[in-house]
Amino acid sequence: MSVSLFLWPSESAAVKRARNDSGNKVAVVLGAQWGDEGKGKVVDLLATESDVVCRCQGGNNAGHTVVVDEEEYDFHLLPSGIINTKCTSFIGNGVVIHLPGLFEEIDKNEKRGLKGWDKRLVISDRAHIVFDFHQAVDGLQEVQRQAQEGQNIGTTKKGIGPTYACKASRTGLRICDLMADFGEFSTRVKNLVLQYQSMYPALKVDVESELKKLKDYAERIRPLIRDGVYFMYDAIHGPPKKILVEGANAALLDIDFGTYPFVTSSNCTVGGVCTGLGIPPANIGEVYGVSKAYTTRVGIGAFPTEQLNAVGELLQTRGHEVGVTTGRKRRCALWFYVLDEIKVGVAYKINGKRVPYFPANMEVLQKVEVEYETFPGWKTDTSAVRKWSDLPPKAQNYIRFVENRIGVPIKWVGVGKSRECMIQMF
Ligand code: IMO
Ligand code: MG
Repeated sequence: MSVSLFLWPSESAAVKRARNDSGNKVAVVLGAQWGDEGKGKVVDLLATESDVVCRCQGGNNAGHTVVVDEEEYDFHLLPSGIINTKCTSFIGNGVVIHLPGLFEEIDKNEKRGLKGWDKRLVISDRAHIVFDFHQAVDGLQEVQRQAQEGQNIGTTKKGIGPTYACKASRTGLRICDLMADFGEFSTRVKNLVLQYQSMYPALKVDVESELKKLKDYAERIRPLIRDGVYFMYDAIHGPPKKILVEGANAALLDIDFGTYPFVTSSNCTVGGVCTGLGIPPANIGEVYGVSKAYTTRVGIGAFPTEQLNAVGELLQTRGHEVGVTTGRKRRCALWFYVLDEIKVGVAYKINGKRVPYFPANMEVLQKVEVEYETFPGWKTDTSAVRKWSDLPPKAQNYIRFVENRIGVPIKWVGVGKSRECMIQMF
């Protein structure tokens, strides 16, 4: 029972406190669909009261838009909390980092007014590095999938899959390796390139130039690097703090629970918070799932409620559904307020029988029959509404229906892009 006591011969104040209470809790914002649900806006709202905002998984495949005072910021690798000057932004060990991408993003947002980020950004030394050649391999794998299977995944080509594959096969390189002996680091990078070239003879890599760039980036990020596990331990067990986790990607893109293989390569559901930051489950506090009133998906994969018709086009245009990371048009499903009626998919049927689960196999999911419930549309613009009682009764009915059906209280209803466009429910 007392293994931990045995390992800690003298009790520090922190250890005593950890035994008596589990420390500060982290609030978590996650995407509940296929991404692009508006996580950035919820994170931005909560970040105004947070001391620390963390990313725990994914990389610059994510694209989070935050609108403040009419200025639109796009974040990919940086936690959206970075615009909040009172908040520390933390990139955890579960994130994969493409350093040129990170600096490009910083430069772009500096031009829009982001200041002092270097005083507020902390990066875990255990995060894995995305190399340019991982991105090239991502592209080659997509070409190969297309040639062999007649379809690809539609990845963002940001090197996410190959980097997590290296992590799992133990050939990856981490930020701590870049911070250590550069000669050793270079040898391991070159070996990795050779491995890839034996798999993909067409892969051309200018290793020397990539290493030279990385050496410069290493010095620029050195002051930001910490032992990420200790950083989180300290944030949790130090003085009271509000800690927020900004999920990237989404539940149905989760490597375990999503529409595999048309998924991303990390755990975007709540388990990824513990492994991607190195914190215990007891420290997870409120978890907010973000969902749109309709559904979108970029990339390939089963999408049973997809609207390949005028309705889908209307959602795409009215909702400005274009990917922040890739500029691709998002595929649209389900329905919207301008319509006479709103249909909500409530169950899947296989061979006429309802299934109480989300099928794992893609061929099965492609073929499910969707059971809908139909609601009257409210056909009025709600973007100026700020109070629940000002929403049209038909919209209220729809929201209460969704709430009852999923069994989770709805905390906010978003009605537009910017920070103010939120109705708080409780
Ligand atoms: P945010 O955080 C929407 C999708 C890609 C592709 C699949 C795999 O902005 O909601 P990857 O490059 O990760 O290997 O691509 O996952 N995808 C996203 N779609 N929003 C995202 O993130 C996404 N992140 C990955 O389009 O289908
Ligand atoms: Mg996005």
